[in-house]
Amino acid sequence: MQKKILIIITGSIASYKALYLIRMLKEKKFLINVIMTKSAKKFVTPLSVSSLSESKVYDDLFDLTDETEMGHIKLAKMHDLILVMPASCHFIAKISNGFADDLASTVLLASKTKVLIAPAMNINMFNNKITQKNIKYLESLDYSFILGNEGKLACGDYGLGRMAEPEDVLNFINIQFSKTKPLEGIKALVTAGPTHEPIDPVRFISNKSSGIQGYLLAEELILNGAEVSLISGPTNLEIPSNLSNFIRVETAEEMLKACLQKIPKDLFISVAAVTDWKVKANKHKIKKSPSVPKLKLLNNPDILKSISSHKDRPRLVIGFAAETKNLEENAMKKIKQKKCDIIIANNVSKTKNVFGSPMNEVNVMNHKGTFLKIKKMNKKKLAKKIIKEVILPSFN
Ligand SMILES: Cc1cc2nc3c(=O)[nH]c(=O)nc-3n(C[C@H](O)[C@H](O)[C@H](O)COP(=O)(O)O)c2cc1C
Repeated sequence: MQKKILIIITGSIASYKALYLIRMLKEKKFLINVIMTKSAKKFVTPLSVSSLSESKVYDDLFDLTDETEMGHIKLAKMHDLILVMPASCHFIAKISNGFADDLASTVLLASKTKVLIAPAMNINMFNNKITQKNIKYLESLDYSFILGNEGKLACGDYGLGRMAEPEDVLNFINIQFSKTKPLEGIKALVTAGPTHEPIDPVRFISNKSSGIQGYLLAEELILNGAEVSLISGPTNLEIPSNLSNFIRVETAEEMLKACLQKIPKDLFISVAAVTDWKVKANKHKIKKSPSVPKLKLLNNPDILKSISSHKDRPRLVIGFAAETKNLEENAMKKIKQKKCDIIIANNVSKTKNVFGSPMNEVNVMNHKGTFLKIKKMNKKKLAKKIIKEVILPSFN
């Protein structure tokens, strides 16, 4: 598939070098979009950039036409890679401090895409402790810097600060895209969120699941190269980018139906907190009256067990268990009943406050018992750890 790169050009004497790179990337059939800062337009013209990139140049956050056609959030989400070239000292300072006062910085802050930065500046600006602190901080957040060799700078000084040559940046980009990801080729299905079981057309029973952990696992699987389908109960979360399928459901029965349609060959992770019971629903809204209505509860289908016992069972089936007491004992029962390979058990008693919280701690168990305890950490880190220590070893 054609890879999409967003290039951000900032105001530097080296801005013209971005034009050479754009031409090289177009020859290699990359799809290019470009954002120019206000200062960048003092060095190279948007006309030259759009002629070479064969697309419109974006420069104004408040351009309403662009917001309807190609809003800043779409620009932030639609690319496989973002390259800031050249990156001015000012722009590096701005993003390392989280400022978003123009289109370029706003798009970078709103994006989860890998970012490469090719700085270009005077040697003293580059060596300044403030700039070095900004670069180190951004590196710690997984931004990658492409530095040029020592050499004569445009200002007459000599040293680092020179921008990397377009050929070197192109090499760096090629390396990014040629890196094989550990879950490449793996097809995965993740369920997340609660289910709503209607009592009547306006009321339902459910549980407190937010869906955060399932969505984060789906995102991390994608970053590791897996093809991911996400089936979600009702949540308020942003849908992850680059999913193969996203199916929104309300009830456990709808979730099971969607899971059976999308049953993958490799990996099923049931993170959803499926409501155990459904209600024999009323067609019309139940009227309030002095007598309390009697609700007839019926068992919901067991999605995890259905997938574990399916004739096309995925290679690895992982369930989540939320327990308020006897965590390990109950999770062991669950792994046997459900016939899954691994249970990730968390304590959801009031003191632990897991539902809706950004933090989680879990016991990871197989049929022999707990083989990994993951201490309290944010749910994103936990998703990364589950993939690294539980999922990757199963596929190697
Ligand atoms: C002739 C000239 C050349 C410049 N070259 C650079 C440069 O190579 N690197 C840099 O960081 N700033 C350079 N600047 C200063 C930036 O253009 C200035 O800090 C600007 O505010 C950057 O804005 P931006 O980061 O929004 O593009 C230069 C300014 C001028 C007038």
